[in-house]
Amino acid sequence: MHHFEYKDDALHAEDVAVAEIAEAIGTPFYLYSAATLRRHYRVFADAFAGADALIAFSVKANSNLAVLKLLAREGAGADVVSGGELRRALAAGVPAGKIVFSGVGKTVEEMTAALEAGIYQFNVESANELEALAALARRLGRTAPIALRVNPDVAAGGHEKISTGKSEDKFGVAWSEARALYAHARDLDGVAVKGVDVHIGSQIASLDPFEAALAKLAELIADLRADGCAIERLDVGGGLGIPYGAGEVPPHPEDYAAMIRRVAEPLGVRLIFEPGRMIAGNAGALIARVIYDKKGAARRFLIVDAGMNDLIRPALYDAYHEIAPATRRPDAPPVDYDVVGPVCETGDIFAKGRALPEMREGDLVAFMSAGAYGAAQASQYNSRPLAPEVLVDGARWAVIRKRPSFEEMTAGETAPDWI
Ligand code: LLP
Repeated sequence: MHHFEYKDDALHAEDVAVAEIAEAIGTPFYLYSAATLRRHYRVFADAFAGADALIAFSVKANSNLAVLKLLAREGAGADVVSGGELRRALAAGVPAGKIVFSGVGKTVEEMTAALEAGIYQFNVESANELEALAALARRLGRTAPIALRVNPDVAAGGHEKISTGKSEDKFGVAWSEARALYAHARDLDGVAVKGVDVHIGSQIASLDPFEAALAKLAELIADLRADGCAIERLDVGGGLGIPYGAGEVPPHPEDYAAMIRRVAEPLGVRLIFEPGRMIAGNAGALIARVIYDKKGAARRFLIVDAGMNDLIRPALYDAYHEIAPATRRPDAPPVDYDVVGPVCETGDIFAKGRALPEMREGDLVAFMSAGAYGAAQASQYNSRPLAPEVLVDGARWAVIRKRPSFEEMTAGETAPDWI
């Protein structure tokens, strides 16, 4: 459910016409709906009403400060994976007590910042990290609240580049080693064992892998308690899939919540969630303009002014994004287009053979469901400035990240005088 819809054949985000923003700031740009962001957070939060739960938005999905501030106002915490994301979450007003820190390669600098901020939990991903964090915390005279991220070796489907829960993935502590590492952590000065953490993958289209992982975790928690570890939290990570429009019907958040509550309630733990895509994905679109309708020898190319540097998901994960013309022309004949960007890479393709109503040069198109892992994964490849980001809220809109000028894009670069 989102708030992008046609009014009189013109695509709107809430009450603002996409074309109005394009006229004002140029293309390409990311466009977010505040009502959709709030709604998705609320659907998730309401599904856990009455349960003891922390919903920590996964900042990697969309790290814009305005988006984080909006979600913080709704009560969201933050799941961060770097010092930069930690600073963003704090700057956006997320209380340190609602921040969890995940990731396989936390540096001493990053862990120091998180300890000094007093975050809620470190999700520790290896024995090495456990030792480093404990030593650092002792040096700083602090105690780090921790969970170990365990790898339940559950196949969660989805694209191989976003699968994380299998034993061959780099994430987490091996299932067979978890109990011994917990016993070590229990007796280690500098850390306080608080919980268990898991994250099995992303864009997961069924409840079964979540339930399989939870069943394994329930057993582990019982074992750990028997070993004298006071497990009071269970972080189930993120990963719930969203409909991208290619026929997938992922579980509804309410069904996800009902399943988790049923399985987790007997455990008597505080639940932590790290949803990213489910909150931000369908709350954003990438808006681009058609530069050329190129009639190649064998194919018809719709060349737009956004490229794989702006939205890399199709190139990297073969991801499907619905493409919506900003102006609906019911009488335009359908055409099978290869929708491509201007980047000099064969892989700069958004869609192959996509049936769209015939487009005109200068038309605007929206790549839907681009609010998660869109702007956050953008680059300046081909010296294309990062696409600006815009937030709509009802009839209001604001640029929440401006398009950098050429000077800003190159500001950090200098040539040594010996060249
Ligand atoms: N927690 C942890 C530890 C994670 O690694 C992730 C995502 C999340 C939470 C949030 O997962 P979500 O609820 O958004 O599925 N760039 C890829 C997705 C990479 C996901 C990485 N980890 C894509 O565009 O599909």
